Amino acid sequence: MDFSTIKTELDNNIFTITINRPDKLNALNKTVLEELNIAMESVYNDEKIKAVIITGAGEKAFVAGADIAEFTQVKDDEGSLLSKKGQDVFFKIENCPKPVIAAVNGFALGGGCELAMACHFRLASPNAKFGQPEVNLGLIPGYGGTQRLTRLVGKGKAMELMMTGNMIGADEAKNLGLVNYVEEQENLIPITKDIINLILTKSPFAISKIIEAVNFPLNKEGFREEARLFGEAFASDDKKEGTAAFLEKRKPAFK
Ligand code: COA
Repeated sequence: MDFSTIKTELDNNIFTITINRPDKLNALNKTVLEELNIAMESVYNDEKIKAVIITGAGEKAFVAGADIAEFTQVKDDEGSLLSKKGQDVFFKIENCPKPVIAAVNGFALGGGCELAMACHFRLASPNAKFGQPEVNLGLIPGYGGTQRLTRLVGKGKAMELMMTGNMIGADEAKNLGLVNYVEEQENLIPITKDIINLILTKSPFAISKIIEAVNFPLNKEGFREEARLFGEAFASDDKKEGTAAFLEKRKPAFK
Protein backbone atom coordinates (compact mmCIF):
# COMPACT_ATOMS: atom_id res chain seq x y z
CA MET A 1 0.00 0.00 0.00
CA ASP A 2 1.17 3.48 -0.88
CA PHE A 3 0.84 6.01 1.94
CA SER A 4 2.60 9.32 2.67
CA THR A 5 2.31 9.51 6.48
CA ILE A 6 2.18 5.89 7.57
CA LYS A 7 4.09 2.73 6.64
CA THR A 8 2.52 -0.70 6.55
CA GLU A 9 4.11 -4.12 6.47
CA LEU A 10 2.63 -7.61 6.44
CA ASP A 11 4.87 -10.28 7.95
CA ASN A 12 3.57 -13.76 8.79
CA ASN A 13 -0.02 -12.53 9.02
CA ILE A 14 0.95 -9.67 11.38
CA PHE A 15 0.26 -6.25 9.88
CA THR A 16 2.40 -3.46 11.33
CA ILE A 17 1.17 0.11 10.93
CA THR A 18 3.90 2.68 11.67
CA ILE A 19 2.90 6.33 12.03
CA ASN A 20 5.63 7.97 9.97
CA ARG A 21 6.20 11.70 10.56
CA PRO A 22 9.25 11.46 12.83
CA ASP A 23 10.28 15.12 12.28
CA LYS A 24 6.91 16.13 13.85
CA LEU A 25 7.07 13.36 16.47
CA ASN A 26 4.47 11.45 14.43
CA ALA A 27 1.75 14.01 15.23
CA LEU A 28 -1.67 13.04 13.88
CA ASN A 29 -2.71 15.37 11.08
CA LYS A 30 -5.71 14.92 8.80
CA THR A 31 -3.76 12.77 6.33
CA VAL A 32 -2.47 10.42 9.05
CA LEU A 33 -6.03 9.87 10.29
CA GLU A 34 -7.29 9.27 6.74
CA GLU A 35 -4.49 6.84 5.97
CA LEU A 36 -4.92 5.06 9.30
CA ASN A 37 -8.61 4.68 8.47
CA ILE A 38 -7.79 3.15 5.06
CA ALA A 39 -5.20 0.83 6.61
CA MET A 40 -7.75 -0.33 9.20
CA GLU A 41 -10.32 -0.95 6.45
CA SER A 42 -7.86 -3.34 4.86
CA VAL A 43 -7.37 -5.08 8.22
CA TYR A 44 -11.11 -5.80 8.31
CA ASN A 45 -11.16 -7.00 4.67
CA ASP A 46 -7.86 -8.80 4.08
CA GLU A 47 -7.92 -12.43 5.19
CA LYS A 48 -4.13 -12.59 5.22
CA ILE A 49 -4.08 -10.08 8.09
CA LYS A 50 -4.65 -11.86 11.40
CA ALA A 51 -3.41 -9.21 13.86
CA VAL A 52 -2.10 -5.65 13.95
CA ILE A 53 0.71 -3.74 15.66
CA ILE A 54 0.51 0.06 15.77
CA THR A 55 3.78 1.87 16.48
CA GLY A 56 5.65 5.11 15.69
CA ALA A 57 8.64 5.78 13.43
CA GLY A 58 11.96 6.60 15.07
CA GLU A 59 13.09 6.11 18.65
CA LYS A 60 11.63 9.22 20.24
CA ALA A 61 7.90 9.17 19.73
CA PHE A 62 4.95 6.86 19.34
CA VAL A 63 2.67 9.84 18.58
CA ALA A 64 3.05 13.25 20.29
CA GLY A 65 -0.59 14.14 19.80
CA ALA A 66 -2.91 15.67 17.27
CA ASP A 67 -1.11 18.11 14.96
CA ILE A 68 -1.32 21.39 16.86
CA ALA A 69 -0.25 23.46 13.83
CA GLU A 70 -3.26 22.10 11.93
CA PHE A 71 -5.62 23.23 14.72
CA THR A 72 -5.04 26.82 13.66
CA GLN A 73 -6.47 26.03 10.20
CA VAL A 74 -9.73 24.59 11.54
CA LYS A 75 -12.67 26.97 12.07
CA ASP A 76 -13.88 27.62 15.61
CA ASP A 77 -17.20 25.84 15.06
CA GLU A 78 -15.61 22.73 13.56
CA GLY A 79 -14.01 21.40 16.75
CA SER A 80 -16.73 18.82 17.48
CA LEU A 81 -16.51 17.48 13.95
CA LEU A 82 -12.70 17.22 14.22
CA SER A 83 -13.12 15.28 17.45
CA LYS A 84 -15.80 13.01 15.99
CA LYS A 85 -13.68 12.20 12.93
CA GLY A 86 -10.78 11.09 15.13
CA GLN A 87 -13.12 9.15 17.42
CA ASP A 88 -14.54 7.27 14.41
CA VAL A 89 -11.09 6.11 13.26
CA PHE A 90 -10.26 5.02 16.81
CA PHE A 91 -13.58 3.12 17.10
CA LYS A 92 -12.52 1.21 14.00
CA ILE A 93 -9.35 0.18 15.86
CA GLU A 94 -11.11 -0.61 19.14
CA ASN A 95 -13.87 -2.66 17.52
CA CYS A 96 -11.61 -4.48 15.08
CA PRO A 97 -12.39 -8.21 15.32
CA LYS A 98 -8.66 -9.02 15.05
CA PRO A 99 -6.19 -8.17 17.86
CA VAL A 100 -4.67 -4.67 17.63
CA ILE A 101 -1.72 -4.09 19.96
CA ALA A 102 0.12 -0.78 20.51
CA ALA A 103 3.94 -0.89 20.70
CA VAL A 104 4.57 2.47 22.37
CA ASN A 105 8.14 3.41 21.49
CA GLY A 106 8.33 6.94 22.98
CA PHE A 107 6.02 9.92 23.60
CA ALA A 108 2.33 8.94 23.62
CA LEU A 109 0.71 12.27 24.34
CA GLY A 110 -2.78 13.61 23.71
CA GLY A 111 -4.09 11.89 20.58
CA GLY A 112 -1.09 9.54 20.81
CA CYS A 113 -2.10 8.31 24.25
CA GLU A 114 -5.66 8.08 22.93
CA LEU A 115 -4.51 6.05 19.92
CA ALA A 116 -2.63 3.65 22.19
CA MET A 117 -5.70 3.35 24.44
CA ALA A 118 -7.95 2.54 21.47
CA CYS A 119 -5.76 -0.53 20.83
CA HIS A 120 -6.69 -3.72 22.68
CA PHE A 121 -3.61 -3.54 24.91
CA ARG A 122 -0.21 -1.88 25.04
CA LEU A 123 3.50 -2.62 25.43
CA ALA A 124 5.97 0.22 25.95
CA SER A 125 9.70 0.90 25.79
CA PRO A 126 11.38 2.40 28.89
CA ASN A 127 11.56 5.88 27.28
CA ALA A 128 7.78 5.96 26.66
CA LYS A 129 5.92 8.88 28.21
CA PHE A 130 2.16 9.01 28.49
CA GLY A 131 -0.05 12.02 29.10
CA GLN A 132 -3.08 14.05 28.14
CA PRO A 133 -1.58 17.57 27.91
CA GLU A 134 -4.54 19.15 26.05
CA VAL A 135 -5.24 21.35 29.08
CA ASN A 136 -1.98 23.20 28.33
CA LEU A 137 -3.58 24.19 25.00
CA GLY A 138 -6.91 25.23 26.57
CA LEU A 139 -8.41 21.98 25.26
CA ILE A 140 -9.67 18.62 26.49
CA PRO A 141 -8.90 15.17 25.10
CA GLY A 142 -11.13 14.70 22.04
CA TYR A 143 -10.30 11.29 20.60
CA GLY A 144 -11.86 9.26 23.40
CA GLY A 145 -9.31 10.01 26.13
CA THR A 146 -11.82 11.23 28.71
CA GLN A 147 -13.65 7.91 28.37
CA ARG A 148 -10.85 5.36 27.85
CA LEU A 149 -8.29 6.75 30.32
CA THR A 150 -10.94 6.84 33.04
CA ARG A 151 -11.83 3.22 32.34
CA LEU A 152 -8.20 2.07 32.19
CA VAL A 153 -6.69 3.82 35.23
CA GLY A 154 -9.74 4.87 37.29
CA LYS A 155 -11.43 8.22 37.71
CA GLY A 156 -9.08 9.82 40.26
CA LYS A 157 -5.83 9.24 38.36
CA ALA A 158 -7.51 10.05 35.03
CA MET A 159 -8.78 13.35 36.44
CA GLU A 160 -5.31 14.18 37.79
CA LEU A 161 -3.56 13.37 34.49
CA MET A 162 -6.05 15.41 32.45
CA MET A 163 -6.16 18.37 34.86
CA THR A 164 -2.38 18.66 35.34
CA GLY A 165 -1.35 17.64 31.82
CA ASN A 166 1.58 15.84 33.51
CA MET A 167 3.43 13.07 31.73
CA ILE A 168 4.10 9.71 33.35
CA GLY A 169 6.87 7.26 32.52
CA ALA A 170 6.57 3.68 31.31
CA ASP A 171 6.93 2.08 34.75
CA GLU A 172 4.20 4.25 36.28
CA ALA A 173 2.00 3.54 33.25
CA LYS A 174 2.58 -0.17 33.90
CA ASN A 175 1.70 0.19 37.58
CA LEU A 176 -1.52 1.94 36.58
CA GLY A 177 -2.47 -0.80 34.11
CA LEU A 178 -2.10 1.51 31.14
CA VAL A 179 0.61 -0.74 29.66
CA ASN A 180 1.04 -4.47 30.17
CA TYR A 181 4.82 -4.81 29.69
CA VAL A 182 7.85 -2.53 29.50
CA GLU A 183 10.49 -3.87 27.11
CA GLU A 184 13.75 -2.41 25.77
CA GLN A 185 13.20 -0.52 22.52
CA GLU A 186 14.98 -3.16 20.38
CA ASN A 187 12.86 -5.96 21.89
CA LEU A 188 9.55 -4.10 21.77
CA ILE A 189 8.32 -5.32 18.36
CA PRO A 190 9.74 -8.88 18.67
CA ILE A 191 8.08 -9.36 22.08
CA THR A 192 4.82 -7.85 20.81
CA LYS A 193 4.99 -10.38 17.96
CA ASP A 194 5.63 -13.23 20.43
CA ILE A 195 2.45 -12.31 22.31
CA ILE A 196 0.50 -12.01 19.06
CA ASN A 197 1.81 -15.37 17.86
CA LEU A 198 0.51 -16.97 21.04
CA ILE A 199 -2.88 -15.30 20.51
CA LEU A 200 -2.88 -16.54 16.89
CA THR A 201 -2.77 -20.17 18.12
CA LYS A 202 -6.20 -19.59 19.72
CA SER A 203 -9.62 -19.50 18.08
CA PRO A 204 -9.92 -16.32 15.96
CA PHE A 205 -13.70 -16.51 16.30
CA ALA A 206 -13.48 -16.64 20.11
CA ILE A 207 -10.95 -13.76 20.10
CA SER A 208 -13.36 -11.62 18.06
CA LYS A 209 -16.12 -12.39 20.58
CA ILE A 210 -13.82 -11.45 23.50
CA ILE A 211 -13.18 -8.08 21.84
CA GLU A 212 -16.90 -7.56 21.29
CA ALA A 213 -17.84 -8.52 24.85
CA VAL A 214 -15.13 -6.46 26.55
CA ASN A 215 -16.03 -3.40 24.47
CA PHE A 216 -19.77 -3.76 25.00
CA PRO A 217 -20.11 -1.60 28.14
CA LEU A 218 -18.43 1.41 26.48
CA ASN A 219 -20.83 4.30 26.78
CA LYS A 220 -21.26 5.82 23.31
CA GLU A 221 -23.03 8.82 24.85
CA GLY A 222 -19.85 9.62 26.77
CA PHE A 223 -17.91 9.86 23.50
CA ARG A 224 -20.59 12.09 21.94
CA GLU A 225 -20.46 14.37 24.97
CA GLU A 226 -16.65 14.47 24.80
CA ALA A 227 -16.86 15.63 21.15
CA ARG A 228 -19.41 18.30 22.06
CA LEU A 229 -17.33 19.61 24.96
CA PHE A 230 -14.13 19.47 22.88
CA GLY A 231 -16.02 21.69 20.41
CA GLU A 232 -16.79 24.20 23.18
CA ALA A 233 -13.16 24.29 24.29
CA PHE A 234 -12.00 24.48 20.66
CA ALA A 235 -13.93 27.74 20.14
CA SER A 236 -12.52 29.34 23.33
CA ASP A 237 -9.98 32.14 23.73
CA ASP A 238 -7.91 29.82 25.93
CA LYS A 239 -7.49 27.40 23.00
CA LYS A 240 -6.30 30.27 20.77
CA GLU A 241 -3.78 31.34 23.39
CA GLY A 242 -2.73 27.75 24.19
CA THR A 243 -2.06 26.72 20.60
CA ALA A 244 -0.38 30.04 19.75
CA ALA A 245 1.89 29.66 22.80
CA PHE A 246 2.91 26.11 21.74
CA LEU A 247 3.71 27.20 18.18
CA GLU A 248 5.60 30.28 19.41
CA LYS A 249 7.46 28.06 21.94
CA ARG A 250 6.38 30.10 25.00
CA LYS A 251 4.22 29.56 28.09
CA PRO A 252 0.49 30.28 27.66
CA ALA A 253 -1.15 33.10 29.62
CA PHE A 254 -4.70 31.90 30.30
CA LYS A 255 -7.30 34.36 31.58
N1 COA B 1 1.66 18.85 16.80
C1 COA B 1 2.45 19.45 15.88
N2 COA B 1 3.78 19.46 15.93
C2 COA B 1 4.35 18.80 16.96
C3 COA B 1 3.62 18.15 17.96
C4 COA B 1 2.21 18.19 17.86
N3 COA B 1 1.42 17.58 18.74
N4 COA B 1 4.48 17.62 18.86
C5 COA B 1 5.71 17.92 18.43
N5 COA B 1 5.65 18.64 17.28
C6 COA B 1 6.75 19.16 16.48
C7 COA B 1 7.40 20.37 17.15
O1 COA B 1 6.66 21.56 16.86
C8 COA B 1 8.77 20.33 16.51
O2 COA B 1 8.66 20.86 15.20
P1 COA B 1 9.80 21.89 14.64
O3 COA B 1 11.07 21.08 14.69
O4 COA B 1 9.32 22.18 13.26
O5 COA B 1 9.80 23.05 15.58
C9 COA B 1 9.07 18.85 16.37
O6 COA B 1 7.80 18.19 16.42
C10 COA B 1 9.93 18.29 17.49
O7 COA B 1 9.31 18.60 18.73
P2 COA B 1 10.02 19.43 19.91
O8 COA B 1 8.96 20.10 20.72
O9 COA B 1 11.11 20.27 19.35
O10 COA B 1 10.67 18.21 20.73
P3 COA B 1 11.05 18.20 22.28
O11 COA B 1 11.85 16.98 22.49
O12 COA B 1 11.62 19.52 22.70
O13 COA B 1 9.64 18.07 23.04
C11 COA B 1 7.45 17.15 23.42
C12 COA B 1 8.88 16.90 22.90
C13 COA B 1 6.63 15.91 23.07
C14 COA B 1 7.48 17.35 24.94
C15 COA B 1 6.87 18.39 22.75
O14 COA B 1 7.03 18.25 21.34
C16 COA B 1 5.40 18.62 22.99
O15 COA B 1 5.03 19.08 24.05
N6 COA B 1 4.54 18.32 22.00
C17 COA B 1 3.13 18.55 22.07
C18 COA B 1 2.44 17.56 22.95
C19 COA B 1 0.97 17.89 23.05
O16 COA B 1 0.54 18.87 23.60
N7 COA B 1 0.16 16.99 22.49
C20 COA B 1 -1.25 17.09 22.55
C21 COA B 1 -1.79 17.72 21.35
S1 COA B 1 -3.56 17.81 21.44
